[in-house]
Amino acid sequence: MSKLFGETKAVDNVDLQVNDGEFMVLLGPSGCGKTTTLRLIAGLEKPTSGLILFDDMVVNDLEPKDRRIAMVFQDYALYPHMKVFDNMALNLQVRGLSREEIRRKVWETAELLGIKHLLERKPAQLSGGEQQRVALGRAIVREPSVFLMDEPLSNLDAALRAKMRGELKKLQERLKTTTIYVTHDQIEAMVMANRIAVMRSGRVQQIGSPQEIYNRPANRFVAEFVGSPKMNIFEATLIIDESPRLSTGSFDISLPASIVKLMGESNSGTELLVGVRPEDVLVSTTSDKDYIESTIYLVEDVGNLSFVTLQAGDVLIVAQAPPSVGLKVGEKAYFKLLAEKLHIFDKKTEKLII
Ligand SMILES: Nc1ncnc2c1ncn2[C@@H]1O[C@H](COP(=O)(O)OP(=O)(O)OP(=O)(O)O)[C@@H](O)[C@H]1O
Ligand SMILES: [Mg+2]
Repeated sequence: MSKLFGETKAVDNVDLQVNDGEFMVLLGPSGCGKTTTLRLIAGLEKPTSGLILFDDMVVNDLEPKDRRIAMVFQDYALYPHMKVFDNMALNLQVRGLSREEIRRKVWETAELLGIKHLLERKPAQLSGGEQQRVALGRAIVREPSVFLMDEPLSNLDAALRAKMRGELKKLQERLKTTTIYVTHDQIEAMVMANRIAVMRSGRVQQIGSPQEIYNRPANRFVAEFVGSPKMNIFEATLIIDESPRLSTGSFDISLPASIVKLMGESNSGTELLVGVRPEDVLVSTTSDKDYIESTIYLVEDVGNLSFVTLQAGDVLIVAQAPPSVGLKVGEKAYFKLLAEKLHIFDKKTEKLII
C-alpha cells in the first residue's frame, strides 16, 4: 500500500505480511512512515493505493471499530477523570457486555499485569510504568486479533523501559496475539521482535529476524541503523591480482580466495563500501601478521567494554575491546579486520554484495 499526504509519500509501496501470532516490529528513523503504516492498518487513515487484508479479507472499507484491533499509543491516552477500572472497562461497556462479565475480564487482565491494587486510582495517581500497564490492560481486555503499538514505552525512563520491554515481550508470548510494534529504538526492536521491518522514507528496506538484520543487512542504511556503536563503513577499491585485496588508499585488507569468489562479477578496480562491526575489529598493542598500524584517536570506556577509535591514514575505525587493554590516546595500536566478517556493499547502490 501507499499513502500520500499532498506531495509527501508517507508510505511508499509497502508490502508486508505479518504472520499469525507474530511480534513484528516496524523500525526506522523519525518521519519514515511507521505511524502512518500503523494507522493505515488500524483504519484511521485510508490508503491512497493498495490493499490491506486481515486473513483473506480486504478491510480497506472496514471501520476501525470493526477490525478487531487494539491500539496502544505513545502517550497512553488514558481518561484522567476516570478510575483505572473504568478506563479498562470503557470499551467493554460500549460493546454492551454485562456488568459481571466486564468485572471478570477487567480483574483477570489486571491480575495478569499486576495492577489489581490500582483499579480504584485515577491515572494521575500512577507512575509512568503503571500508566503504561493500564494502557496495555485497556487494549488486552478487549481481546483483539491484533495489537498495534506505537512507541508505547517512549515516555518511560531507561530502566523502566528496559523492564517493560521484557514484560511486554513475555506477555505477548503468553497471549500469542499478533502484534505490530513501532519503534525507532533498534535495541527494543532487536530484543522484542520475531521479525523486524526496517523502514526509510516510506519504504521497507529489509524484513527479517533480528539476527538476519544484524548479520546480513541488505544495504548501508540498515547496516548503520542497527547496531551500537554503529558499523564502520569506509570506501575501498577491489584489487584482483596475485594477492587479492581491498585497498582504502590508507591500508589494504587481503582477501582469501573464498571471498573473491563470492564477489562474483565485481572486476578489479570496482569501488566498494566496506563495513565491519566494532566487535569484529581485533586490537592489539603489538604488531602481528595482517595487523594494520594506527594511532589511537579516542577511547570510550563504558565499564565492561571499551570503544576505541583508531586512525589509519584517512580512515577512522571503531573497535570494541576489553577495558583492561590499557589503550591510550595518541599511542600506536594495531588492528585486524576479519575478512569473513566484512560486509561489502556496492558503492553506488549501497546494496549488499556479500
Ligand atoms: N496527517 C498528515 N499530513 C501531512 N503529512 C503527514 C501527516 N502524517 C504524517 N505526515 C508525514 O508523513 C511522513 C511520515 O510520518 P509518520 O508519522 O508516519 O512517521 P514516523 O515514522 O511515525 O515518525 P516518528 O518516529 O517521528 O513518529 C512524515 O514526513 C510526516 O511529516
Ligand atoms: Mg510515529
